[in-house]
Amino acid sequence: MDALRNKYLGLIADAADEAAIEDVRIAALGKKGEISLKMRELGGMSPEERQVAGPALNALKDEINSALAAKKAALADAALDARLREEWLDVTLPGRPRPAGTLHPISQVTEEVTAIFADMGFAVAEGPQIDSDWYNFDALNIPGHHPARAEMDTFYMHRAPGDNRPPHVLRTHTSPVQIRTMERIGAPLRVIAPGRVYRADYDQTHTPMFHQVEGLAIDTDISMANLKWCLEEFVKAYFEVDHVDLRFRASHFPFTEPSAEVDIRCSWEGGTLKVGQGDDWLEILGSGMVHPKVLQAANVDPAKWQGFAFGLGIDRIAMLKYGIPDLRAFFDSDLRWLRHYGFAALDVPTLHGGLSR
Ligand code: DAH
Repeated sequence: MDALRNKYLGLIADAADEAAIEDVRIAALGKKGEISLKMRELGGMSPEERQVAGPALNALKDEINSALAAKKAALADAALDARLREEWLDVTLPGRPRPAGTLHPISQVTEEVTAIFADMGFAVAEGPQIDSDWYNFDALNIPGHHPARAEMDTFYMHRAPGDNRPPHVLRTHTSPVQIRTMERIGAPLRVIAPGRVYRADYDQTHTPMFHQVEGLAIDTDISMANLKWCLEEFVKAYFEVDHVDLRFRASHFPFTEPSAEVDIRCSWEGGTLKVGQGDDWLEILGSGMVHPKVLQAANVDPAKWQGFAFGLGIDRIAMLKYGIPDLRAFFDSDLRWLRHYGFAALDVPTLHGGLSR
């Protein structure tokens, strides 16, 4: 009995997998198994012998059965452990950026412009897209009868019937943020204000909603020379070239005196636009020295402070830099277009790391 027990417990301990266990079970307890045959011998024994051998054999059979079950369970556990080790995954690894979603060129260019002016000490300011006619026009020295109001194709908001105050407008430019920022933080200041603006206009180069960046620098000793230097530095950094020719053209805006529009030298050879060479000029922004009446409207003393301002079309310079021929495509939400012109969302533009890489 002891020899049988040792033999089968040993075989069970050595079994490496479920098939080996089954072999041991058959060899011991199958129809022709060694222990089954021994049980059959009970019939030929004397009653006294059977009384001793019967319970002993049954106990042995139970012992082997439970050893088999225990080994089976241990093997299943080991198999599960092995599988868990195999399928192990480090959830602390950084995620892979997914190329499916991209940054819209307008967002990309806004980030680029912001990075460049931040480097020159300009903070970012914001204002509401629905504004009063005072902020959008009067405070900027554009009185009610001024032709600029008609030229801007303004969208007006409704007033309740019987409310005779002037209607609010969808801002036609980012210039009202000049007034709001001077009211809020006074002088000196240096800010840019990127954002959406609205005009009733629609063709290949005009959409009813588009984007501008306003710039404003107020201090005690600011001149056109500072304006020119800042804009030249900006244009070189933005187009990622060492040299650009800019043309400052005398112009007129109600909120600046003197005023200048800025053109950039470019060529259209072979239908593609190249910045910094050629014989063509392309207008990219309006600018000037802030009109004393504008400072006054924002409670900044024009006897002590002066400054420059500029307004730049974001969509315009995005089309120029990235070779996008039709402005309307910006707002079509065409996935193929977005995939083609979009930017990797995690590549934040910086001056040291590269703006558009
Ligand atoms: N607000 C003008 C426009 O939308 C652009 C502009 C011109 C802004 C001259 C300025 C400026 O700050 O000084 O057409």
